[in-house]
Amino acid sequence: MPATTPPLRLLGAADVLEGLRALRQQQPVKYAAFYSSQLGGVVTDPALMVIPFDDHMVHRGHGIFDTASIVDGRIYDLDAHLDRFIRSAGRSNLPLPATREQMRDLIVGTTAVSGMRDGAIRYWLSSGPGSLELSPAAGAEPGFFVMIFAGLSYPDRWYTEGLKVMTTTFPIKPSLYAITKSTNYLPNVLMQMEAKQAGLDNGVFIDAAGHVGESSNMNVAFVTQDGVFRHPKFDHILSGCTSLRLLELAQALVTQGLIAGVEVCDIPVAAARAAREMMLIGSSIKVASVVEWDGAKIGDGRPGAIAKSLLGLLDADMRSGRDRLTDVPY
Ligand SMILES: Cc1ncc(COP(=O)(O)O)c(C=O)c1O
Repeated sequence: MPATTPPLRLLGAADVLEGLRALRQQQPVKYAAFYSSQLGGVVTDPALMVIPFDDHMVHRGHGIFDTASIVDGRIYDLDAHLDRFIRSAGRSNLPLPATREQMRDLIVGTTAVSGMRDGAIRYWLSSGPGSLELSPAAGAEPGFFVMIFAGLSYPDRWYTEGLKVMTTTFPIKPSLYAITKSTNYLPNVLMQMEAKQAGLDNGVFIDAAGHVGESSNMNVAFVTQDGVFRHPKFDHILSGCTSLRLLELAQALVTQGLIAGVEVCDIPVAAARAAREMMLIGSSIKVASVVEWDGAKIGDGRPGAIAKSLLGLLDADMRSGRDRLTDVPY
């Protein structure tokens, strides 16, 4: 914003488009394609990837979203993410704008238009525009949006040296909201900002009973001193599609004798701090070791062998996992 207030301009459609383009030039983005049910199609010019300000997803947070990864020209685990999307819609009292099959086709179709062979997909369901009230406006149609973009990227250091995290001072979301992937991410945002401001990589939510919850946009898991891969229960945190898949894939490590077992249970903080390994898990981070938590080392303070094996299993599954990959008709 300039130091002095310039005279107010009354803008026409061309000025608005110019303004939107200028915004994108000022802050270059790699958004490859965007589908909007409100626009009735796909745009590839990032300046046109817009949602009306009075959509209740924007001003009230009445919307939900989910993700999926594009790997080597195929979409990984789309159905698991779509199942969670539909569950989130139900909990948020948001009607689906189309059948599951139609939404799936729109996601795959938008990916095809984007031409992107490695990247990420996010899709949203909004309550729709039409008023500044709380409940959906009369006649509002739910909006469905799909974005194809390069994906989040994290420093190499997270994988070579591991992450340092802190227990956040922000309260964990009440369970109903934590298990719903809504556009209300304020606690998650504040937690991550707090950690970054403290010179750390991320935060960890602890619940009122003193059990480990999750991180900002990632799950947290552990390997105990006796070699059990242990994950918090999913009743008070998001059901991470990556975690759920890794809990299955980890059976291979049991067979190989690398871990003693796999457990989903409440994890008291004290037990968690005594773990041999701690890791963050999610679609964007995949698997990365936490080596320090609240200034204390986890295990020997170096990235763990099991986290590395799990990352290998996940990578292989993302590239060649049978019945988990969706072809894209580019
Ligand atoms: C709060 C939260 N927890 C966990 C996860 C990990 O979920 P997934 O593995 O499906 O990416 C995410 C990411 O979507 C998240 O936002």
